[in-house]
Amino acid sequence: MTKQFETTANFLKVKIDFTPEICIILGSGLGALVNEIDDQIIFPYSEIPNFPVSTVQGHSGNLIFGTLGGKKIVAMQGRFHYYEGYEMNEVTFPIRVMKLLGVKYLIVSNAAGGLNPKYKAGDLMIITDHINFFPINPLRGKNLDSFGVRFPDMSKVYNSDLIKLAEETAKKEQIPYHKGIYIGSSGPTLETPAEYRLFRIFGADATGMSTVPEVIVAHHQSMKCFGISVITNESEPENPEIETTHDEVQNMAESVEPKLTKIITGVIKNI
Ligand code: HPA
Repeated sequence: MTKQFETTANFLKVKIDFTPEICIILGSGLGALVNEIDDQIIFPYSEIPNFPVSTVQGHSGNLIFGTLGGKKIVAMQGRFHYYEGYEMNEVTFPIRVMKLLGVKYLIVSNAAGGLNPKYKAGDLMIITDHINFFPINPLRGKNLDSFGVRFPDMSKVYNSDLIKLAEETAKKEQIPYHKGIYIGSSGPTLETPAEYRLFRIFGADATGMSTVPEVIVAHHQSMKCFGISVITNESEPENPEIETTHDEVQNMAESVEPKLTKIITGVIKNI
């Protein structure tokens, strides 16, 4: 596997004459931030050796290098979800490549279902911690010692300085936000009322089908992580006849995206 990471990183390195400091992963319906990136160099995933190809509607599947908020960055427009059938090492493949490219920070966005009864569709949640409810840990298997230790400490995964920068930006821009815990599970099913209830009992505030695998791998290799969720729907286990469609999730994410872009850009500017 390590050879493949190197092949991919070297392919990109010879085409890019700078070291990106920050990687941004843009979630479902949240890809518009790329319009803010200057001096773009775009690689469709299909043209990058060893890269999996994204299959989900609404995920363009491009790696975009450029400048944002005065920083050299690389954005993943579209990510690889476990529910699409990728193995965990495929879901997290780009994160290993990022390390070899010299990336120090990972910024992740996602669409998520609200679990906390105070959360409304359209709200933003800065992720303070996560629960890994995927059936497999992405670090399972032989440890890649050159990237990180066998048993990573997980007490401070979401970097407090980055959270502070996000809060300062949100306050300055008068964007309301929550801070809460994200639980990641495999999908592609949304939750049953009983599962939403269970996740609330676990202490999670929002749920989605991504983010946790990428963040675990980034943290393993000592990247500083920041995550933010757009609450696209409210879970109402008390009201089980309320349905959620993928279109609603997508449309809500797109409508909130400008606020997300402001917060992420604010964080990046001040890193
Ligand atoms: N559950 C899981 N993933 C999601 C949801 C949800 O309610 N909304 C958006 N992604």
